[in-house]
Amino acid sequence: MDRRLLGLSNTLPLLLRDGRAVARETPTEGVWRQLALAYQLAASFATRAGYPDWAFAAVEKQPAAARDGDRVLEIGTATGYVAAPLSERLGSDRVVSVEIDAALSQRAAATLADHGFSPRLVVGDGAEGWEEGAPYDRLISTCALRHIPYALVRQVAPGGLIVAPPARAFWSGAPVRLSVEDNGIARGPFRGGASYMPMRSHRLPDAGPVDSGTARPWEAVTDPGHLLGLGFALYAGARLPGVTMSHAEAGTAVTVWLQDAAGSAAVAATGESVGECGERNLWPEVEAVYAEYVTLGQPDGDSFGLSVTPTGQEVWLRSPRTVIAAV
Ligand SMILES: C[S@@+](CC[C@H](N)C(=O)[O-])C[C@H]1O[C@@H](n2cnc3c(N)ncnc32)[C@H](O)[C@@H]1O
Repeated sequence: MDRRLLGLSNTLPLLLRDGRAVARETPTEGVWRQLALAYQLAASFATRAGYPDWAFAAVEKQPAAARDGDRVLEIGTATGYVAAPLSERLGSDRVVSVEIDAALSQRAAATLADHGFSPRLVVGDGAEGWEEGAPYDRLISTCALRHIPYALVRQVAPGGLIVAPPARAFWSGAPVRLSVEDNGIARGPFRGGASYMPMRSHRLPDAGPVDSGTARPWEAVTDPGHLLGLGFALYAGARLPGVTMSHAEAGTAVTVWLQDAAGSAAVAATGESVGECGERNLWPEVEAVYAEYVTLGQPDGDSFGLSVTPTGQEVWLRSPRTVIAAV
């Protein structure tokens, strides 16, 4: 078997030769490491400049629209691009924005002042929110979170909303919109699509190096192209914790990469046999989860939701009572 596998970037091509994975230009594990890094970025880094759309949707559109008099906490001030319309809509005195990078916060303060806005800009770790300004009616995180810290839920008043993009290992670019209930539980659906830069302390760990010496072929039953929907990403992310997935498309051909933290990996391309490395056979695991997903009627991304309690969080399907997994 001799086959070219496309990397996320064409500068990282690999060949699978006689069942062994080797890098085309530099046959070292370093390339696998670079790919692993690329997977991580692909899974968690912003791939489109979509954030203002949904962040603004929380301000301007139903059903997350802010109401006159609402107080808003934004996590991730960066340029102030989101803090500005929030300040315009609600008044600067009703907007708090937390940024971990002091230089960015300072620059945003100057830009915002130039435009006549003076929201409260806090330099700190947004994972802790900003207790002093609580309770808030709306909380918008413009950096991705691996889990919603309960400290944030506590700072939002009952009836208030939290809009945040989770950062999951398995590809899934869907912000979640949670309502905070009287009992202190935040629940709500995933809505739309957007991928964001992760909060610093929520970055995914580097995937372990893949042992290409263990490379072996595996016959695929499922076309990798079937795995690309947001609904499946949310389902598989809950069912296969710690497994990253990324993909590339060339015309109708799709290549999918899977990897876990212990260095198992699988590469599957349309119409070709799969390359597996490491202890786990990730491809049949993903195929089994895909079969479950088909049995469930292939629900789309909006069918899934998240509940956040003081002790953890759960992904559910269609109703908070139908929990898929604690995540
Ligand atoms: C996609 S940018 C946010 C864009 C921003 N809302 C704007 O209007 O330009 C994500 C920001 O989150 C910040 N960030 C990362 N980790 C953070 C943390 N723990 N607390 C607060 N901000 C954080 C980053 O420094 C970065 O500026």
